[in-house]
Amino acid sequence: MKLKLKNVFLAYFLVSIAGLLYALVQLGQPCDCLPPLRAAAEQLRQKDLRISQLQADLRRPPPAPAQPPEPEALPTIYVITPTYARLVQKAELVRLSQTLSLVPRLHWLLVEDAESPTPLVSGLLAASGLLFTHLAVLTPKAQRLREGEPGWVRPRGVEQRNKALDWLRGKGGAVGGEKDSPPPGTQGVVYFADDDNTYSRELFKEMRWTRGVSVWPVGLVGGLRFEGPRVQDGRVVGFHTAWEPNRPFPLDMAGFAVSLPLLLAKPNAQFDATAPRGHLESSLLSHLVDPKDLEPRAANCTQVLVWHTRTEKPKMKQEEQLQRQGQGSDPAIENKESQPRGASWFPSLGKPACCSLISRDRVPVPTQDRLGSSSAQSFLPPSP
Ligand SMILES: *[C@@H]1O[C@H](CO)[C@@H](O)[C@H](O)[C@H]1NC(C)=O
Repeated sequence: MKLKLKNVFLAYFLVSIAGLLYALVQLGQPCDCLPPLRAAAEQLRQKDLRISQLQADLRRPPPAPAQPPEPEALPTIYVITPTYARLVQKAELVRLSQTLSLVPRLHWLLVEDAESPTPLVSGLLAASGLLFTHLAVLTPKAQRLREGEPGWVRPRGVEQRNKALDWLRGKGGAVGGEKDSPPPGTQGVVYFADDDNTYSRELFKEMRWTRGVSVWPVGLVGGLRFEGPRVQDGRVVGFHTAWEPNRPFPLDMAGFAVSLPLLLAKPNAQFDATAPRGHLESSLLSHLVDPKDLEPRAANCTQVLVWHTRTEKPKMKQEEQLQRQGQGSDPAIENKESQPRGASWFPSLGKPACCSLISRDRVPVPTQDRLGSSSAQSFLPPSP
């Protein structure tokens, strides 16, 4: 009995020692006793992995601009936009360029009313991601608005649109972007898009397959909710317009597109700067098409997809006040590349030397109109 008790004691002792040793050994092992901690560590690792993936993505070159790949067969839309320096110019061009970047196979012909390209427009074009050609031609003095004349007296943008037509016809003149005119046989369509209108991207789908001259309504023009062709049985039979309905083509500049082959086949077709008021569009179209052959688009001209909007001319009273105190807004902002000769695009806000240079060069244009307005010269502080 005595011996047995001793054995039990010995066994108990041995088991205890083994347990103690096991515990001591376990202390040195990596801990797997806390599953929540391990899960958290795993999550962190996953996040690190994701971050390094994202960093790798960032280092890759950016994807091609928004235009989805399109079949080569799609005719190119050549959009001709005349533009001129004024306070809202950059805002208008940013808005238009971003609309155009929604349209596949588009080539923007931006024509400045200026002797030479301005840094503002060059920079904007370069940053636009669009296929473009930059042109520049100054409107001759005789055609410019005189002081006090309302904007509609003289057709605006004539020289600039004709310059773009010349480029399309292989006469060159590009000062930036794509220099070569479309090669012979190019399938395309030409549209005149002023920089102040509002365009639905759907409009470009409507014009893409123009065979001769296609037409559609334009909103908020001619004192009406919209102006546009009247269509019966799929043919243009007249025009909804209130003003001079007897014009051969009572259409707004934004209300038609012309096929490129047709334009190239009629080398004399261009805009006539001497055309009477409201007849500028007709001066081009009468070379190209008979009114009865116009091709109605936009659901037989029942949809408005472009609006003749106008941006209000900003008031600069406070700016002028600050300028008089020598505290005007920095003209270098909004015009990053400074111009060596001091002719800032932001003419009213430049230093006196810049302003007097511009006011000598240019006829002041105080009224706002479709294309040509009021370059900012009218805000000039009184000359000393
Ligand atoms: C335009 O009108 C013609 C003739 O009425 C019709 O055949 C055609 O489907 C119409 N087109 C559209 C897009 O509504």
